[in-house]
Amino acid sequence: MKKFAVFGNPIEQSLSPTIHQMFAEQCEEVISYEKILAPVDGFVEKASSFLAQPEVVGCNVTMPFKLDAFNMANIDDQAAQDAQAANTLMKCPDGSIKGFNTDGVGLVNDLLNNNVQLENKRVLLIGAGGAARGVISPLLEASVAQLIITNRTLEKAQQISAAVSNSNLDVVALDDIAAIKPHIIINSTAASLHQELPCHMSEALLDECEVVYDMVYKNSPTVFMQEAHKYGVKKRLDGLGMLVEQAAAAFSIWTGKQPKTNAIVNKVRELIN
Ligand code: ATR
Repeated sequence: MKKFAVFGNPIEQSLSPTIHQMFAEQCEEVISYEKILAPVDGFVEKASSFLAQPEVVGCNVTMPFKLDAFNMANIDDQAAQDAQAANTLMKCPDGSIKGFNTDGVGLVNDLLNNNVQLENKRVLLIGAGGAARGVISPLLEASVAQLIITNRTLEKAQQISAAVSNSNLDVVALDDIAAIKPHIIINSTAASLHQELPCHMSEALLDECEVVYDMVYKNSPTVFMQEAHKYGVKKRLDGLGMLVEQAAAAFSIWTGKQPKTNAIVNKVRELIN
């Protein structure tokens, strides 16, 4: 049996085992997929001993270990390189470990599944933590006209922009975002977890906005999605589809099989309700 796991701290809340078992059933694979709680300073040791088991194919990595995972793996994947973070590890036949970041492709695929056109759009990305870093290069590769990052702590956004250095990538202070007139706004911050808004929502900001996306998912719309609704933004998506799509990309790296995600997103939605 192929063995997998997800490492995090905390990890109890993770839906990854459920999602991967659904993929396995659909793709006629028999797998075990467990949740492993690693101590905050003990990820590398825990993950290394798990990966050393002969049946283990790979693992997922969530907060706060994506940087540790990046540092312990060989990285060819551009998204992981740009993010300096890995959420997927795979064991190679010679025992070495390869690292990938599927968060960005997960977001882009979820947007495409929801008929959101990215090409030639002005996209505002709020936040400059690990979640934001993971999605920048896949968004740029999706041919957006302009990707603008803003963050409560502006220097962090400026550091990301300097590191990625792409002429379609800009940084704007939170106070100045209304002037951008974004078509798409992506909230990558943790604000929704605390019932807070990541930025001031206004008519001016949302004038031309077609879609808001909150990477947080809950059993009801987040405050960010509710405010966007108030200002008439027609499409408001949460991060559940991204969660399933990033998992599908990892499953495909490990098994070479691409699961169909539509029905699985609906089933996972039922589980969190
Ligand atoms: P993650 O890896 O999930 O992105 P992180 O690296 O801790 O987590 O980053 C959290 C992001 O959410 C940061 O951009 C943070 O802003 P700061 O850099 O100013 O700390 C942002 N954030 C968290 N809570 C927020 C809030 N209430 N309002 C606005 N931004 C918030």
